[in-house]
Amino acid sequence: MVQGAINQNTKLTKDWLQNYVDDWVDFYLKHTGEGEVASYIPLLSQAEKSHLGISIMGINGVTIESGNVDIPFTLQSISKVFTFIVACMERGVPYVLDRVDVEPTGQAFNSIMHLEMKQLKKPFNPFVNAGAITVTSLLNGKTSDEKLEPLFQLLETILGYRPSLNTDVFESERETSMRNRAIGYYLVETGYLESELELTLETYFKQCSIEISLQDLAHLGTVLANDGRDPKTEIEIIPKQFARLAKSLMLTCGMYDASGKFAAYVGIPAKSGVSGGIIAVSPPRARQEDLPFLEGCGIGVYGPALDKQGNSIAGIKLLRHIAKQWDLSIF
Ligand code: DON
Repeated sequence: MVQGAINQNTKLTKDWLQNYVDDWVDFYLKHTGEGEVASYIPLLSQAEKSHLGISIMGINGVTIESGNVDIPFTLQSISKVFTFIVACMERGVPYVLDRVDVEPTGQAFNSIMHLEMKQLKKPFNPFVNAGAITVTSLLNGKTSDEKLEPLFQLLETILGYRPSLNTDVFESERETSMRNRAIGYYLVETGYLESELELTLETYFKQCSIEISLQDLAHLGTVLANDGRDPKTEIEIIPKQFARLAKSLMLTCGMYDASGKFAAYVGIPAKSGVSGGIIAVSPPRARQEDLPFLEGCGIGVYGPALDKQGNSIAGIKLLRHIAKQWDLSIF
């Protein structure tokens, strides 16, 4: 393959695409002004609202980055994808799906109302807080650190280093997490939590506070895009069945009550977090045309100004534009 080329026999060089992505990031920067940074976790409100960055990492090894690419941020709800995968690896899919469903809610990520109104049998999906807290309670281990060790190991295997915990963000959330406590108590009453509530919540707040970079998000995305295999070595890191299940949930539930619009207008699996990160996955696509990243890619976006659903406002617009220009939709 020609050095710096995106696809074989292509006129689409890395430099050519880089110029476009730089222009698009510049253009969508102004939309950061339309959102607000999360403040219900006090420390997250220190993020710079005008930041916007993107990292696109191809399964073919080509990476394009633009904008604010050097700002570390916490995984927040993006962690839910990976704790779900770890829970499936530890307990098996039937056990996990006996305790959390795979249905979108059409409600906010931290909705309490829908738990009662729909006569909850089990939490709707692993990505709303009720489902994520239930999944976290299934992780093996007697302490939060024990429970999270396999998650850290999975991240380290993929990223090649062990991400750290942002203890300030963790403590900030732990001290102000009344809504998650309310959800937690409801789950105790319904009998779905398998670990004691305080331990489960501590573990959940820690998983949300794992600090990563934009490049890390894109890198994690390439493994999901490649059905769980490391794109360089082709060694399986996540069993294909779990990677597929996670991607289907990202598509249907990953952007909460904006998941339908995201599927319709962007058309790729994605998961957001209130720190402003989005992980998006473009699986390999069979197209005749000369298009960028036909082999698939992982995309990380960072833009801490959020819309009302808690998703990066400029990040979604940027992803929508790129997906349209490059025909990324899986449909
Ligand atoms: O449970 C919470 O409130 C946060 N730690 C995570 C929520 C989140 O990231 C929602 N995503 N957009």
